[in-house]
Amino acid sequence: MTNQMTPTMDEQARAILRGNDRGGYTVPTSGLYPYQWNWDSAFAAWGFATFDVARAWVEIETLLSGQWDNGMVPHILFHRPDPGYFPGPDVWGGVGPVPSSGISQPPVAASFARRVYDMDPDASREALVRIFPKLKAWHQWFMDWRLDQGAVCITHPWEAGRDNTPDWDGAMAGIDPVGVGDYTRRDTSHVDPAMRPTKYDYDRYIWLVQLGRRLNWGDAALLKQNPFRVADPTMTFTLLRAQRDLAALGRALGEDVGSIDAAIQELEAGAETLWNPDLACYDARDVRSGKWAGCVSNASFLNWYAGIDHPGMVAQYDRITSICKYPVPSHDPSSDRFDPKRYWRGPTWGIMNALIGLGLEECGHTDRAEALRQTTGELIRDHGFAEYFDPLTGRAAGGGTFTWTAAVWLGWTSPSRPKGAS
Ligand code: DGY
Repeated sequence: MTNQMTPTMDEQARAILRGNDRGGYTVPTSGLYPYQWNWDSAFAAWGFATFDVARAWVEIETLLSGQWDNGMVPHILFHRPDPGYFPGPDVWGGVGPVPSSGISQPPVAASFARRVYDMDPDASREALVRIFPKLKAWHQWFMDWRLDQGAVCITHPWEAGRDNTPDWDGAMAGIDPVGVGDYTRRDTSHVDPAMRPTKYDYDRYIWLVQLGRRLNWGDAALLKQNPFRVADPTMTFTLLRAQRDLAALGRALGEDVGSIDAAIQELEAGAETLWNPDLACYDARDVRSGKWAGCVSNASFLNWYAGIDHPGMVAQYDRITSICKYPVPSHDPSSDRFDPKRYWRGPTWGIMNALIGLGLEECGHTDRAEALRQTTGELIRDHGFAEYFDPLTGRAAGGGTFTWTAAVWLGWTSPSRPKGAS
């Protein structure tokens, strides 16, 4: 029973956003992630828009203030030094206007910008005019440097946001992290190491950062020399969706969106190159070896979010949701690589559920969408605003008081979310 002293879930979620606000940008959670992360900020903007549209635009504009000359928007902006995180700005050696990492992240910002704009067009127009060319240049950078047969590739596991997913196991095994040297991880001092990537993973993460830095983050040099290049469902589906949303925003502004429409066609064709017929699922494809990952992941189910309906994916979705109480797990629970607590090797993530749910609803799978909204809401209500959750028990895992989980609550699962939020 609630009494007047107990804050409601909405109040708690808003307090998390306010508490993680560092002035113009929001950290994912204090301690573990003390900087501005790219896709976390896009979700934060969604959450802010439910009670403060102006603050939502500030979040997106601060993110885009870190855009590099080549159009890339980095995955971390190190606005203020913090020794509690590794690898920091000195390790990355980013070459943009704000100290940053050297890779990008799933481009969901244009999609949330559209949502914020639709919630209050009058209050949003000026900000939209300012950010439109920046979003367009960022998307074009993906089109210029990251495509393989129209599918979007990552050059580092962190670029997809799904750091240690089994999707990359094959590509990671091809890296010999020779010369990586000594370093001290900080993440495992904030969170139980059993919930984080292993040292094997980190050696390769850091080796790839050192390679990028040696090449001064040159796109052409990386394309030639980086052994890690994987065509990824997360990137392909989110960019396809983001291009659709950017085209809609461009039309609202009276801009010429011909090049964006062409990109949409190229990405639609690219998405189909991720269909693994043996797995009967969208899958990651290692561009260097030509091998499939063989993984049913939560990113596989972003097809609906990208506007692609596929009967095979409905069958996969029903199978996966029937074998765990709190879907959608980041890796297939029937696989021997499934690990329910370890980050992207099993846990359920509220943000991925929100994207999957939005897509299911838009493609007409409304019962599935509503069921996912309900179980995700239950997960957050019963287990807190955690970074991720055990898909079998619902137990909270990773960091707590997490910005994007609070945003998902406010924008998608809260019964009192404002009209237009989702
Ligand atoms: C981390 O530090 O764990 C991040 O996922 C990198 O983006």
